[in-house]
Amino acid sequence: LTQLVYFITGVAGSGKTALGKLLSEHWNIPFADADDFHPPENIAKMRAGIPLTDDDRAGWLHALNAYAIEQLQSGSIVIACSALKNAYRTRLCASIPPHQVRWIHLRGDYDLIRQRMEARGGHFMPAALLQSQFDIYEQPTQGWVFDVKNSLDQIFQRIKIIMQPTFGVIGLGVMGRNLARNLARHQVPLSLYNRFVAGQEERVAERAVAEFPELATAKPFEDLKAFVASLERPRKVFLMVNAGAPVDEVLEQLWPLLEPGDIVMDGGNSHYEDTRRRQEQSLQKGIHFLGVGVSGGESGALNGPAIMVGGDTDAYAQVAPFLEQIAARDAGTGLCAALVGPQGAGHFVKMTHNGIEYAEMQLLAEVYSVLRWEMGHTPDQVADILSEWMQDGQRSYLLEITINILRRREGNGWLLDVISDKAAHKGTGSWASIAASELGVPVTMMTDALFARFVAALQPYRHELSAIYPPWERPVELSISTLKYAYAFARVINHHQGFMMIQAASKHYGWQISMPEVARIWTNGCIIRSDLMLESVHNLTEYGDLLRSTSVQAQIKRDYPALQDTVAHLSYSRRAYPCLMGALTAFNGLTTHTSSAHLIQAQRDYFGAHLYERTDDQSGQKYHTNWE
Ligand code: 6PG
Repeated sequence: LTQLVYFITGVAGSGKTALGKLLSEHWNIPFADADDFHPPENIAKMRAGIPLTDDDRAGWLHALNAYAIEQLQSGSIVIACSALKNAYRTRLCASIPPHQVRWIHLRGDYDLIRQRMEARGGHFMPAALLQSQFDIYEQPTQGWVFDVKNSLDQIFQRIKIIMQPTFGVIGLGVMGRNLARNLARHQVPLSLYNRFVAGQEERVAERAVAEFPELATAKPFEDLKAFVASLERPRKVFLMVNAGAPVDEVLEQLWPLLEPGDIVMDGGNSHYEDTRRRQEQSLQKGIHFLGVGVSGGESGALNGPAIMVGGDTDAYAQVAPFLEQIAARDAGTGLCAALVGPQGAGHFVKMTHNGIEYAEMQLLAEVYSVLRWEMGHTPDQVADILSEWMQDGQRSYLLEITINILRRREGNGWLLDVISDKAAHKGTGSWASIAASELGVPVTMMTDALFARFVAALQPYRHELSAIYPPWERPVELSISTLKYAYAFARVINHHQGFMMIQAASKHYGWQISMPEVARIWTNGCIIRSDLMLESVHNLTEYGDLLRSTSVQAQIKRDYPALQDTVAHLSYSRRAYPCLMGALTAFNGLTTHTSSAHLIQAQRDYFGAHLYERTDDQSGQKYHTNWE
């Protein structure tokens, strides 16, 4: 057995000592409290309410490190130590081989910890010093992190689960590799499998282990049977392969090797109906199958993605402690990971996320087009304008990356100008539009954005037609602030439509998805994180529907003329602005009391005897007229 030193870190009052004692009793190994290593000068200083400096702490950290090294000669040990900064943590584990160190970080809300400190007695550290600890605290980059709003026992149970080796990752493309690295950084023991395809995918797992230091202790496999055999029961396997047939192919090979109780998580962008089918197939074999929506691209996978899980609660409880380690954190003390519902709910929510993402991206492309082509600003100037919008309520990850893209130079020009405008897509946007049609939800903006990509993809045809119908001059006169308000308005409509879609699916499938919870998971880690999403959490909690929120009402009433002006002026342009224009149409449609659809009903009845309801009969009775 490897001898380990468990460092439990956190500010004063976070519960390090209590947890340390519990673990030391459970594992029957010694416990040391770093407080006992302070020289008398340090204790006197803290007693007097004076924060310690780096210099004050240097000798103390050195002594603790020497003690840990000495203890490791005879066995494992648990040491509770605040270790507030990364440099302190590095000092604590100096000269100890990394595979012998485990970090357990306790984090929590200032008010909660302050309350606990005030309630405890007999400690030299006055509660007033707590703020000084929060001020210098640096988020750890390695190790297990637990929120102290959970009880000691809950944290203890999670540690027990998370210590069970071993977690398996199948598929080491960029997303799988980064998720594996993220898990490894949180001390999760890993087995990694990537298939062998001669000349294309050879020794992929082995190379990942060699390339990334954090994967050094992971076991690489190219043989699925040996990979499965390396996992402890109940096995936990994260599938990170391309959506569609590849998932079924891997499952066909995997199922005979697994046993009842094992858990398979599909972390790709799978279709939610496929997930439902795979869950049923797995269930017949007693195997749990979770559809896990993972958002945040490659950097999210590595540093903290948003995770939307669909499946059964028992299986989720067994993998939650792992997912909680690797997920992004929201603005409060929550995690951007949750079980959003049963069956394909997780993948449905992820698909809708991507639909919203499509429209957010298209809106930015349209705003850029107006600023650059209609108003004549250079990409750098557009970036400057958008940077101001960032400060002015429109902060979002997609806006941020757009600004960076606009500033990227190549040679004397902009890199953007040599990127082909043939837009591509991988399917989730079109699935979202299909699902919306099947559910009968008018999510026009993601569909407009999807079709805009299709139009862009018709590049040769566009080139031909643009020669037949060359642009004609009719200037667009629009102010930057009008455009900004129109953009803000359109984003609200896009988000509203996305949430409507999830609500409709939740009702249709009986998933009971919580809208505020989905918005909360989307506040960090994912591609559509933004200030608007943060506000949406509140609005959905209070009003259940974005358009019913009083603050949204005020915003819309303020911005409506701007969207109208924008659409009116853009109608002079020869460029297409489907999402800006579509937002106005969508809003007008939803807020129209008496629509022209009575004519549609009459036409349907005229040619097909499809019947209609009458406004003067509320009983639901259907009528037919002999129109001829
Ligand atoms: C995410 C992204 C991610 C991926 C999309 C791209 O949330 O991390 O949405 O899933 O970038 O699948 O989709 P398209 O290729 O269809 O644009």
